[in-house]
Amino acid sequence: MKIVVLGTGYVGLVTGVCLAELGHHVVAVDVDVEKVAVLNSGKSPIYEPGLDALLDKNVSVGRFVATSDLEIAVIGADISIIAVGTPTREGHIDLSSIRDVSTQLASVLHQCSDFHVVCVKSTVLPGTTENVVGTILAHASTRQLGIDLGLCMNPEFLAEGTAVQDFMNPDRIVIGATDQKTFDLVSDMYSILGRVDFVNTSPVTAEISKYAANSFLATTISFSNEIANLCSVVGDVDVVDVMAAVRLDRRLTPLLPEGRIWPGLMSFLHPGVGFGGSCFPKDIRALVAFGSDIKSPMPILQAVLETNDNQWLLTVKMLTEELGELRGKKIGVLGLAFKPGTSDIRMSPSINILRELWASGANLIAHDPVAISNMKLELDGLPIEYSETFNDFIFDCDAIVLVTAWPEYKELENLICDRNIVVVDGRRFLDKDCFARYRGIGI
Ligand code: UGA
Repeated sequence: MKIVVLGTGYVGLVTGVCLAELGHHVVAVDVDVEKVAVLNSGKSPIYEPGLDALLDKNVSVGRFVATSDLEIAVIGADISIIAVGTPTREGHIDLSSIRDVSTQLASVLHQCSDFHVVCVKSTVLPGTTENVVGTILAHASTRQLGIDLGLCMNPEFLAEGTAVQDFMNPDRIVIGATDQKTFDLVSDMYSILGRVDFVNTSPVTAEISKYAANSFLATTISFSNEIANLCSVVGDVDVVDVMAAVRLDRRLTPLLPEGRIWPGLMSFLHPGVGFGGSCFPKDIRALVAFGSDIKSPMPILQAVLETNDNQWLLTVKMLTEELGELRGKKIGVLGLAFKPGTSDIRMSPSINILRELWASGANLIAHDPVAISNMKLELDGLPIEYSETFNDFIFDCDAIVLVTAWPEYKELENLICDRNIVVVDGRRFLDKDCFARYRGIGI
């Protein structure tokens, strides 16, 4: 098939490159001409394990090409996938890129006659696919839905850091199509992936499924953090022990004769400094605002956000309790990415932590294996020292704060040992018994 992907952010790029790897001819469209040039040289502008190699391979064999010319890309294509950003502005989802790209698509589709499917992959609020994208396409092109135009919403369930692997081994593919012909074409696009659970549904069900999936995971995190915060006030209790007991419920971790099954969800029942990234904070905020607009309040999700918005502050509180006045104290911040396995720092708790520590007058040094350059851009002007390694500077610090659980930070257990350095573990990742001065969320 010839497939056009509109937008080359995380979702668009991973989708486009993986579809090319499956054997399709993919044209990726982006307004950023510099990015287009980088992509056509076979290099990925983002850090995502496995993506560079696949991009390079598929550019070399001619199955993946990037362009800024939407018209040339779309003529003769079977499917156009909309993967542009849907940021939050003033608490509400901003659909301007979705509208722009739909308008451009409509004017090109006006000129050609073969059946063409427009597939929305960006996360959009209920009703957007049909009422915004569908309406624009129907008004501005001469096409008729179900006749020579197909419309569907096909959410992505990729997690950063494992996005390529997630795409190639999907747990489900949700296709919210307006008609059977569209469902058949879009499911064909994925057919080479082999056995996978397809959900053949309506666009609005697909739209809400995406929000519901992310809201559920984020709720689990804030739930764990709320219990953690309770434990830290009760005293003489560690939330890690509490959660270990909760997880042993056979309805969470089924007990089979051959042993227990440990679903991936169990990693979300774990305390920490809260969730970040480009998805959970944005999606949940957008859904809460949508619920309020349609007079269907979402108090649980509001509380999920509130707990999360305050969670990072606990690291600063623990540092202050241990060190007193932070002015002039040297503090090492370990981990800048919003989670391990990515260089993405969007909505990372480390941003708030660094800003707050700086405002308190602390001297800051920070480490991350891959996200330093992104944080330098984000906190341009703040006097933070960045280091490519951490096992040298930690000994000069009064305290270390672990914000992202990169595996290499396990080394701290041997390095710091019984030294008089405060260790604040924002992810409950380290063995508390290995340190003389350990503080963790939920103890
Ligand atoms: C998330 C979902 O997991 C994907 O299924 C979804 O497709 C994606 O959003 C999206 O909407 O595009 P992602 O944001 O890449 O993926 O990362 P997660 O691994 O889910 O982590 C999200 C945040 O939760 C991170 O800040 C992570 O540190 C935090 N987290 C995760 C916790 O605080 N505790 C946990 O136990 C697990």
